[in-house]
Amino acid sequence: MPVSKGTSIANSNIAFIKYWGNRDHALRLPATASLSMNLAGLFTRTTVAFDPALDRDVVVLDNAAQSAEALKRVADHLDRVRALAKITTRARVDSQNNFPTGTGIASSASGFAALTVAACAAAGLQLSERELSVLARQGSGSASRSIPGGFVEWQMGTGSDDSFAFSIAAPDHWALVDCIAIVSREHKEVGSTGGHALAHTSPLQQARIEDAPRRLDSCREALLARDFSRLAEIVEEDSTMMHAIMMTSRPPLYYWQAPTLAIMRAVREWRAKGLPACFTIDAGPNVHVITTADHAAEVKNRLGAIPGVQNVLTATPGGGAELVTGQ
Ligand code: PMV
Repeated sequence: MPVSKGTSIANSNIAFIKYWGNRDHALRLPATASLSMNLAGLFTRTTVAFDPALDRDVVVLDNAAQSAEALKRVADHLDRVRALAKITTRARVDSQNNFPTGTGIASSASGFAALTVAACAAAGLQLSERELSVLARQGSGSASRSIPGGFVEWQMGTGSDDSFAFSIAAPDHWALVDCIAIVSREHKEVGSTGGHALAHTSPLQQARIEDAPRRLDSCREALLARDFSRLAEIVEEDSTMMHAIMMTSRPPLYYWQAPTLAIMRAVREWRAKGLPACFTIDAGPNVHVITTADHAAEVKNRLGAIPGVQNVLTATPGGGAELVTGQ
């Protein structure tokens, strides 16, 4: 086999209804369904080259050669692709995030989505969007949601083959903007893989799981109806519920820092006074403030003035993972 290459670009995504906890860790089958918006312009670009001259996989992320756990996680994902393609050839993976490294923006969603699409193309596999989403999910759960475009729902499914994400609305359905307030650039102590494994140790997780269909339906309805106030209430409720699980796990996980809480309070005050804005927070201290395009400049300015906010990135609804052709 000659060297066989594929390149893909995939956007990151922000969950409006969160994924936290697995019912099967090895397969990354989620405990609940989730719903997200792809983030245009916050992407990973990945090239995979299967090369018969290699005796092991080589993984370079943002120009740094990876080893140990980071290398193993990518090599394990390549193994899934190799098994499907019935090949054993090792690969060189070169991956770049276009958002500055260390800004605390999660890169596993865009990273594993881009890796999946690039590796499948390089291996000569022609998979459907659904099959790509199933595969990306096994690398990182939230990566399943970066395969389809726009606003995306990841259904729990009954097993691996039907736990995939699909688009519920195109990027132009609603001109929302995610204003991401960066309050810390440090690497989190416990990443999401470790966090998912702890979720069931919180006595609150069962209640969160039982209530999940209500939150998902409410969020989907608000999104499809472009009803901002309804969206805002459910997005904040869902985010805080996830953090309640994190803070009551054994051991507990506290991701918020003082500026995180200051932003949460400010955003609720702004909304009470008529500004359409709501917060959602992932496994870290940075705050995603969702607003509409008309108010994005105002929200960005206000966030920038809060003590502890280092900078504010913005992203509009983005498309799905794409193969880069002609390289
Ligand atoms: O895909 P993971 O394992 O990095 O999990 C993502 C977890 C959250 O970002 C906290 C929530 C979500 O649904 O994206």
